[in-house]
Amino acid sequence: KVYRASTTAPVNIAVVKYWGKRDTKLNLPTNSSLSVTLAQSDLRTLTTASCSSSYPSEQGDTLLLNGEPSDVSGARIQACFRALRARRAALEATDSSLPKLSAMPLRLVSENNFPTAAGLASSAAGFAALVRAIANLYELTDNPSQLSLIARQGSGSACRSLFGGYVAWRMGQAADGSDSLAEQVAPASHWPEMRALILVVSAAKKDVGSTSGMQQTVATSSLFQQRVREVVPANMAKMEKAIQDKDFGAFAEVTMRDSNSFHSTCSDSYPPIYYMNDVSRAAVRAVEAVNEAAGKTVAAYTFDAGPNAVIYYLEKDAEAVVGTFAAVVGGASGWKEGATSLKSGIAL
Ligand code: DP6
Repeated sequence: KVYRASTTAPVNIAVVKYWGKRDTKLNLPTNSSLSVTLAQSDLRTLTTASCSSSYPSEQGDTLLLNGEPSDVSGARIQACFRALRARRAALEATDSSLPKLSAMPLRLVSENNFPTAAGLASSAAGFAALVRAIANLYELTDNPSQLSLIARQGSGSACRSLFGGYVAWRMGQAADGSDSLAEQVAPASHWPEMRALILVVSAAKKDVGSTSGMQQTVATSSLFQQRVREVVPANMAKMEKAIQDKDFGAFAEVTMRDSNSFHSTCSDSYPPIYYMNDVSRAAVRAVEAVNEAAGKTVAAYTFDAGPNAVIYYLEKDAEAVVGTFAAVVGGASGWKEGATSLKSGIAL
């Protein structure tokens, strides 16, 4: 007999960024963060988890990622497997009628509905889907926040992909990480007019991965200390209020300031880390031009650990925002060489 369960998880893009670990083993952050979840019709990971006593045990647990066998020996994915198996084993210990799934090899098949090569953060949706698929297979009763504790150990940003809408990852204080979890700040339906535009500037793999990049920043940037102590706590408070009030101007300013602050700590690292390039900077200028032409803030940019831009805007301003970017991408400016695709109107 083969036991099987499937699930999907969305991509999330932070508007207050996670950058820095206080514990690299447990993946505990130096600051809280907050993200907006993208629509699953546009960007999501679909994962099927199965287990069977007929699966050859010498193969161990396996993972097929977009059709390719993927290594599962890494400490992070192993930590997720271990935590989920322990939860299942606890259920089996209290009810002897339950099949001993925790002792069977796992097979995971995971697929993104967007090209992995697009250079978009896929680890968040990937680990979130993996954790929930196994939790469903094991019939665990844990709520999304409890599962976020496990997904966090796979990849920090993954803990925010177990919810929809607006999601905060509370950094927590406990040394064992038991309070470093995600929670929903507001459902997508609270502010359904929110849209995201993703500008794929480069499909190349990032120069410096987020894990090593953030370690370099923590170890060498003095600006980082101020970001963690003052900038992020203030931005978290302002962002939560902006979302509650549905105040796009405030949401946009914090989003852009926090992206700028994060990238400043990267360039303040020694040696410096540069994720944004000339095309990214052209996107910043295009957002400024759109806002100037509108006479108010109608668009906000943010950049993760790579040159791709994510632009947030409200549905009513779609024409002004998407129109401008489509023109820039297709036009004779710097976009032409750099931007490879435009994904528009990604609803939440
Ligand atoms: C810039 O979650 O990929 O996207 O925990 O080492 O896997 P690990 O890092 P990861 O870092 C994401 C960094 C970011 C900001 C964010 O998503 O908050």
